[in-house]
Amino acid sequence: MRLVLLGAPGAGKGTQCKSIVDRYNLLHLSSGDILRRERAAGTELGKKAQQYMDSGGLVPDEIIIEMMAEAIKKAPRAGFILDGFPRTVNQAAALDNALEADGREIDAVLNLQIDDQVVAGRMTGRRSCPTCGAVYHIENLKPKRAGLCDHDGTELVQRPDDSPEVVANRLETYHQQTEPLVDYYKNNGTVYDFDADRDPEDVRASIFEKLDALVRA
Ligand code: AP5
Repeated sequence: MRLVLLGAPGAGKGTQCKSIVDRYNLLHLSSGDILRRERAAGTELGKKAQQYMDSGGLVPDEIIIEMMAEAIKKAPRAGFILDGFPRTVNQAAALDNALEADGREIDAVLNLQIDDQVVAGRMTGRRSCPTCGAVYHIENLKPKRAGLCDHDGTELVQRPDDSPEVVANRLETYHQQTEPLVDYYKNNGTVYDFDADRDPEDVRASIFEKLDALVRA
């Protein structure tokens, strides 16, 4: 199964991906996580991406398309879920072309819907694990031991782009450049909308219901 997960910053894409990949045995390909790893490793790509990420803008299409094409090429044919990519219509068209050239296509697009006001509270309370990428929230989704990852005990960190000013820019960027992708995919394939302003387990159950049906079909 090859899936795209759409949604504004803080909609819960990373949170939901963790359960989706386990249940359906998929590879989780998060463009944001890949970029953060490149930055942490001090690569040229990471250095180029830094200014865009820190301001809440998008890293230029040509950089992202090349980076994700490489990651997708290495993905097992059984399937993957794309989280944070594509983010522009250009990126989506490039993804379609790359998959088509390889005899593959996107099976479904999951669209997490959330209001901007809800996002702000989620972002300031988010903490994540720099080792495994697990995501927590200081109130909504606490780790078992305060400040430490449940999976590997690593000290949790706050992302530098989660300040209120940068979150506002990320939301604006999302509405201008990424939201049009919902229509792009509605014209080209199957899009499932989910109300993401619910308990994470309820969101997960709705996603599983749709994906189980897709697997059975
Ligand atoms: P990226 O890392 O992709 O960030 P994002 O899309 O802004 O999404 P987030 O990771 O912030 O949110 P999420 O939806 O995953 O929410 P999460 O599950 O963590 O991108 C970062 C930057 O990289 C971009 O700004 C850009 O510069 C660059 N970039 C990346 N991809 C790019 C591309 N394709 N093209 C160009 N540039 C690109 O949840 C958030 C918080 O809420 C957590 O604390 C969580 O515990 C909590 N939470 C989750 N679900 C719920 C719930 N249902 N109820 C209550 N709390 C919840």
